[in-house]
Amino acid sequence: MSVNTVEHNRRRFSFEGIREIWLFGYGSLIYKVDFPYLERRPAAIRGWARRFWQGSHDHRGTPEAPGRVVTLIEAPGTECRGMAYRVSPEVFEHLDEREKNGYLRFSTPMTFDDGTRAEGLVYIATPDNAAFLGDAPESAIAGQIARAHGPSGANADYLLQLADSLRALGDDCPHTFAIEAHLRPLLAESVSGNDPIR
Ligand code: SIN
Repeated sequence: MSVNTVEHNRRRFSFEGIREIWLFGYGSLIYKVDFPYLERRPAAIRGWARRFWQGSHDHRGTPEAPGRVVTLIEAPGTECRGMAYRVSPEVFEHLDEREKNGYLRFSTPMTFDDGTRAEGLVYIATPDNAAFLGDAPESAIAGQIARAHGPSGANADYLLQLADSLRALGDDCPHTFAIEAHLRPLLAESVSGNDPIR
């Protein structure tokens, strides 16, 4: 089921008096940068792991056939690498719309590659949101992703672009790479006409 968090996010955090703020991206915000920023730097957050557990009914799927996109789940002791952007608060008008299917903004400490730290905002779709799909075998997640398409394109492109971006950032995300390993043969078979996706 889809959901709309735009109003909820506006009420949760006031940008009054703030001229610039850090945003931490760990999913499509790493590679689909459709917003202006003042600076960007690779960064990491601790205690969270990336999972393809959030349904996408609006971007990479439809209400009838949702895709799967990433959210963060609590995972003590782990590190999630991503990209931090220094932005002006107006950017969140656009980003709240883009992330409206279940994501809320949370404040998080981030560590840059040089060891310095800053506080940033991160979009997380928590398990209590209506679009949350939750855990499933990585092979089943790959099958769902292979079939899903939405207004922002193929769900498979979301995963493959994210996997490439994580390799470029040096992030070892076993979950994303395991789904990629299941997905690539499905896509190849689909292209060859021997279509296990349908
Ligand atoms: C993010 O990229 O930080 C949030 C999830 C997404 O938009 O893919």
